[in-house]
Amino acid sequence: MNISIIGLGYVGVITGVCLSSLGHKVFGCDLSKEKVKMLSNGVMPFLEYGCEELLKKSILNKTFSASTSLKDMLDESDLTFVCVGTPSLNNGEVDLSSIKKVLKDINEYLKNRDRWLGICIRSTIPPGTINNTVIPIFNVENYLNNKYSIAFCPEFLREGNSVNDFFKPPLTVTASSDNKIKMLLNELWSSIPGKFQGNEVSFEEAELYKYTSNAFHALKISFANEISLISKEYNANPNVVMDLLKSDTLLNISTKYLRPGYAFGGSCLPKDLRALSHLAKKNNLVIPVLSNILKSNENIILNAKNHIIKNSYGAIGFAGITFKDGTDDLRESSVLKLIYDLSKKYDKISVHDENIDINNLTGVNLKIWQKFIELIEPVVYEKAEDFIKSVDTIIIHGLQENVFKEIRKSNLKKNVIDLNEI
Ligand SMILES: NC(=O)c1ccc[n+]([C@@H]2O[C@H](COP(=O)([O-])OP(=O)(O)OC[C@H]3O[C@@H](n4cnc5c(N)ncnc54)[C@H](O)[C@@H]3O)[C@@H](O)[C@H]2O)c1
Repeated sequence: MNISIIGLGYVGVITGVCLSSLGHKVFGCDLSKEKVKMLSNGVMPFLEYGCEELLKKSILNKTFSASTSLKDMLDESDLTFVCVGTPSLNNGEVDLSSIKKVLKDINEYLKNRDRWLGICIRSTIPPGTINNTVIPIFNVENYLNNKYSIAFCPEFLREGNSVNDFFKPPLTVTASSDNKIKMLLNELWSSIPGKFQGNEVSFEEAELYKYTSNAFHALKISFANEISLISKEYNANPNVVMDLLKSDTLLNISTKYLRPGYAFGGSCLPKDLRALSHLAKKNNLVIPVLSNILKSNENIILNAKNHIIKNSYGAIGFAGITFKDGTDDLRESSVLKLIYDLSKKYDKISVHDENIDINNLTGVNLKIWQKFIELIEPVVYEKAEDFIKSVDTIIIHGLQENVFKEIRKSNLKKNVIDLNEI
């Protein structure tokens, strides 16, 4: 395939050199004459293990060349990768000026081109950029004359390991404007040895996924570092603590606890986070990641409250009030907290939970239940059938299969708000 690469920084050079090493003809373009000269002479402009060797071979095989002329490089190619920088401005906003400039130049260039060009953005860009900034740059004639298609494929390479990462990518994510560019990219990615598993998503999902992935990496590092601060204070080896965490691949290093949904609660997570924050305070340690988790959780409850106020009508009722599905444990239930908050706004709130047998509640749970009844004075329905008849808006938490069965059976139109879907 004939491919141009615009922006010969870390991403552009690695992408270009690796693709050219597979036999694709790659035409690199950069504003920097110095970089272009170095690359043309087989010299890497930065350190990257294994890349210079591949670059030299590609130059000998005439599969890689570089130039400062965008037109010359585009003329040679069917597909172009835009790999220019998208750095932060002082206020945190992403500086899209380089990407806008390149795309405006491509739009101008396309007017005099007599064949189609696939344009794939590889730079990291905020959600909404392709639809709100990139696509509007191209003029209608170019669009109507099928001069181009747009795709976005975020890059996941790690500097220092990027050649390996290129040939064994952790993930390939593609968002495309049409089938033509999608098929071309699939063909290209399939030419990389190893198992190709593509994920086709919307532009916004691909754009946001790149930030999500980097935020998660940063979160993991900061999490481990804060645990390390506490470990050292108590003569515990932080590596032993984190190795234990990593060795649990059922709950810790797994897909568990990563599904977006409603706030957590229960007898352990809030209590143990409070304990860690307290230990840190006592020892003058600063652990903002760990000590802000509960604040983040409270914000999810507030968000649910606002959503319910906006989207409910008539009589409201909660189905599922324990802290999670499959338990009758009411301790630190985030649903109860939500009901307390909403009780200031609603005169009457109905409740039903198929996991609670009121007559069998004991100990702390019985006390929580009694206090709840005393303060909120909810209308309690033991049978799902009676519950659904009495409410217009059902706020559901967990499976609550009986409630759904009754809704289906009765054919009654109900406004259902699932706390896990807000
Ligand atoms: N570096 C990484 O590890 C990495 C990994 C994944 C994604 N990314 C993302 O990829 C993008 C590129 O990152 P990078 O580290 O390669 O950037 P970089 O700053 O190293 O390289 C960008 C290159 O683009 C060139 N350029 C700017 N405007 C140009 C124009 N109009 N025409 C031609 N060339 C132009 C610059 O001269 C520079 O050489 C960024 O959005 C970054 O967030 C980077």
